[in-house]
Amino acid sequence: MTNWVRACATDAIDAEDLIMWEHDGRSFAIYNTDQGFFATDGLCTHQHYPLEDGIVIGTVIECPLHGGRFEVTTGEALSAPVCEDLKTYPVKIEGGSVYLAID
Ligand code: FES
Repeated sequence: MTNWVRACATDAIDAEDLIMWEHDGRSFAIYNTDQGFFATDGLCTHQHYPLEDGIVIGTVIECPLHGGRFEVTTGEALSAPVCEDLKTYPVKIEGGSVYLAID
């Protein structure tokens, strides 16, 4: 059964931005893109740096430490130095809140 957990209000994330959300000892990044809301692990797969201060460009997040890029809709690693994909999580919007399906 899917475990939907409320993360935040939709208006807590500016357009073309992300927030970090801590839950159960884990970090998640939640994005408000021009294609909707998406969620990934909150730490870059290169050197486990928080993506919080990264730049959102369309549906791409650029890591603030070395500039590696990921596609947030799929988690795909797009450019060096990242080569390992980010884990993604299903998102639903209900009643003005963002919910993540956490395994
Ligand atoms: S820690 Fe993200 S690109 Fe190096």
